[in-house]
Amino acid sequence: MYTMKKVILAIESSCDETSAAVCVDGRIKSNVIATQAIHSKYGGVVPELASRAHQQAIAPVVMEALAVAGVTKNQLTEVAFTQGPGLLGALLVGSSFAKSLALGLGVPLLAVNHMKAHVLAHFIEEPQPSFPFLCLTVSGGHTQIVRVDDYLDMTVLGQTQDDAVGEAFDKCAKIMGIPYPGGPIIDRLAKEGDANRFEFSKTEMPDLDYSFSGIKTSFLYFVQNNTQKDVAFVEKNKNDLSASIQKCLIAMLMEKLVRAAEQEGIHEIAIAGGVSANSELRSTIQGIGAEKGWKVYIPKFEYCTDNAAMIAMTAYYQSLGQDYADMHVSPMPRMKF
Ligand code: KG4
Ligand code: ZN
Repeated sequence: MYTMKKVILAIESSCDETSAAVCVDGRIKSNVIATQAIHSKYGGVVPELASRAHQQAIAPVVMEALAVAGVTKNQLTEVAFTQGPGLLGALLVGSSFAKSLALGLGVPLLAVNHMKAHVLAHFIEEPQPSFPFLCLTVSGGHTQIVRVDDYLDMTVLGQTQDDAVGEAFDKCAKIMGIPYPGGPIIDRLAKEGDANRFEFSKTEMPDLDYSFSGIKTSFLYFVQNNTQKDVAFVEKNKNDLSASIQKCLIAMLMEKLVRAAEQEGIHEIAIAGGVSANSELRSTIQGIGAEKGWKVYIPKFEYCTDNAAMIAMTAYYQSLGQDYADMHVSPMPRMKF
């Protein structure tokens, strides 16, 4: 019997990863990710360099995603791309490529919200959370607690009012002279350090919102003051500094997550975004979860950081609801939910 298949190609280019994935009837068949190494020497993502690197990577990344999935471009039934939020120049590369391809093939276009996609990364593989669940999305660009009532029915309960938690990790790393992205290096150094050695003052925020810029500044002053007394302060104390700042950032994340779970009466708890790769965050959430009777969901690492598989998954649900974009759709750097 002939069955209609949905064969979706999705493109992600919102920040510093160029990624393409193929999804056939809701199953991910390939997920190719090209990470841009160029930014490390600048201590953060340089938007203009990101756009250029996307332009160079996009065609080979798409070709590889099709090849790995064993699909030709003529078999595609839809093309999806990240509409926002993200860097305008970076988003433009993915959206122009997706639009041209969809136009050339005569297939519909799907415009995907990157933040919703991080949440729906939980539906790529088993085990999957049941509705309603809470998702703590923690990345280099965002920190938010989302209530998820259905695949495309999500409400932001709280979010950062300034820096994202990943940004706080990266900036504190930079203060210690660690190259970008410093989050994973802090994670590694912290394993050898004493998390109770140093304390930093946390910024209190109302409700379920976050603020991470104050803690970064307090870390900066602390390091500067101590370096004036001993130039080798950072070198001698890198492990303890890493463990202490990491503990503080995770405590801030968990305090609001616990409050949100209590307020909403929800025990299905998920984490998403690049920072959910952090080993201490993973064990802390598992520990608190065991105490509180939560079921905790953490996606595989490749689906935590930016990837097109999560864009493809979101596009699949949008496609089931016929939520297509027209060819004039523009990237939205500050796209909201
Ligand atoms: O989701 P993602 O790949 O990109 C954004 O959308 O931002 O997240 C990247 C962020 C960076 O800030 C990086 O330092 C952080 O995730 N990150 C980590 C770890 N792995 C990645 N932060 C702390 N510990 C880690 N193991
Ligand atoms: Zn992201």
